[in-house]
Amino acid sequence: MSSISKKTLYIETMGCAMNTRDSEHLASELGKVGYTQIDNPEIADLILLNTCSVREKPERKLFSEIGHFAKIKKPEAKIGVCGCSASHMGAQILQKAPSVDFVLGARNISKISQIIHQPKAVEVALDHDDSHYIFERSQSTLKAFINVSIGCDKHCSYCIVPHTRGREISIPMRLILQEAQRCVENGVKEIILLGQNVNNYGARFSGTHPKIDFRGLLESLCALEGLERIRFTSPHPLHMDDAFLECFAHHPKICKSIHMPLQSGSNTILKAMKRGYTKEWYLNRVEKLRALVPDVGIGTDIIVGFPGETEADFAHTLEVVDRVQFDTLYSFVYSPRPLTPAAHLENQVPDTIAKERLSMLQHRHQELLAQKAKNELGKVYRILVENVSEGSAQGRSDQGRLLSFEAQGVSVGDFIDVQVVAHHKGSLQAQRLGA
Ligand code: SAH
Ligand code: SF4
Ligand code: F3S
Repeated sequence: MSSISKKTLYIETMGCAMNTRDSEHLASELGKVGYTQIDNPEIADLILLNTCSVREKPERKLFSEIGHFAKIKKPEAKIGVCGCSASHMGAQILQKAPSVDFVLGARNISKISQIIHQPKAVEVALDHDDSHYIFERSQSTLKAFINVSIGCDKHCSYCIVPHTRGREISIPMRLILQEAQRCVENGVKEIILLGQNVNNYGARFSGTHPKIDFRGLLESLCALEGLERIRFTSPHPLHMDDAFLECFAHHPKICKSIHMPLQSGSNTILKAMKRGYTKEWYLNRVEKLRALVPDVGIGTDIIVGFPGETEADFAHTLEVVDRVQFDTLYSFVYSPRPLTPAAHLENQVPDTIAKERLSMLQHRHQELLAQKAKNELGKVYRILVENVSEGSAQGRSDQGRLLSFEAQGVSVGDFIDVQVVAHHKGSLQAQRLGA
C-alpha cells in the first residue's frame, strides 16, 4: 500500500495488565499503518499515554505527564490520551491540556487507526463493543496476555473500572482459542487470561454464542498442543465454587498460583464494598483450595481505610492475612473516586489512620513472607526461565515463586528443575538440578 508512511510511536503504559495488553493492541493496529514502536518519546511522531484511574494519586499526575511530553516532543508530533482516565474524563482532557490531539477511551482501543486522523476527536463510548476484536502480535514473546472479557458489571462501591471499561462482555471462545493457537505457533509458552472477573466468563456475549463457562474455556485451552502454562487474573472470590476450584486443581497446565482479591476481612466493610462474599466464605475457599493443592501460591489485593472502617474491622483483615499467609499482597489506601457511591459516604477515614493501617499490614505481610521463605529451603521446583543477564537468571515456578540462579547453560524459554538453597529478604536463591 503506497499510502503507508514510515512513522514512529512511543507508548507510556500505566495501570494493570489489561492496559499492557491494550498497549500491545494499539502498537499492533498502528503497525499496520506504518508506525514502528520506539522507546524515545523525543523523536516519536506519535506519543500515546495509556492511563489508569483506579486511584486518585497517579491520575493527578496525568496533566503533569502531558506537560512533560508536550515539552520534549518534536514540534509536529501528536499526543493521544488513551485508557481508563480517557474514558471517564473525555473532553475535559482536551480543555485542560490543549497539547492533546485526541482522547481514546479504554473501551475504544481498536479505533486507534481512525482517530489519529481526526484532530481533537474524543472516542469514549462505553457501549462500544470491542469483544470481537483480536490483534496480531508483532513480536514473539514467552508469555502473552489474552483477554477473555471486557468491562465489569460488579460495581464494587469504591471502584471506577465499570465506568471506564463499561459492561462486561465475554469474548467468543473461538476467538480466544484462535489467539492462543497463534501465540503458541509464535513461541509463546505461557498465556495469561485477562478479565476483571475471569471466572464469570460466559455470563454475557454480544450476539448468540453456545453456552460455556470459565471451566469450559480452561478445558479447551488445556487441550491446545504446545501450550505449556495457563494463568489468569483476576478471578472473583464470589465465583469460586467447588467445580471451579476442582478444575483449577486438576489440570496440570493450569499454574498453581491464584489471585484472590480479598479487599477487606470485615463482613461489615465487605458488605459496604458490595463484594458479595463474607470473610467466612473467603476463608472456606482458601481452605478448600489448600486441601486440593497444598502448595498453591495465593495472592491478594487489600484496601485499607474504606469509609467507616474501624480498628475492629481492620483487625479482621489482619486476622485473614495471618490465617491465609499470602504469597503476594498488593495493598492500597482507599482512594475516593468520581462516579462511585463510596466517595459520597460521610465517615471517610482520616489519611493518617489509613496510612498507619497500610504500614501495619505491609509490615505483617513482610514478617509472614520471611517465615515462609525459611520453609522454602530444600524445595524443588520446575521453572520457566524468564530472564538471563550477566551470569544470573530468573524464572518462575508453577506456584508463581520467583527464583534466581546461576545462568550457566540456560536460555530464556527453558523449563528446568531447581532446588531452593538460600533466601534473602523474601527472595529465593536456587541451584539447578542435574546440571
Ligand atoms: N477486578 C479486580 C480489581 C481491579 S482494580 C478485582 O475485583 O479484584 C485493582 C485493585 O485496585 C483492586 O483489587 C483494589 O484493591 C484496588 N482499588 C480499586 N479501587 C480502589 C480505590 N478506590 N481505592 C483504593 N484501591 C482501589
Ligand atoms: Fe472493580 Fe469490583 Fe469490577 Fe474488580 S470486580 S473491577 S473491584 S468493580
Ligand atoms: Fe486497569 Fe487502572 Fe483501568 S487498574 S482497568 S488501567 S483503571
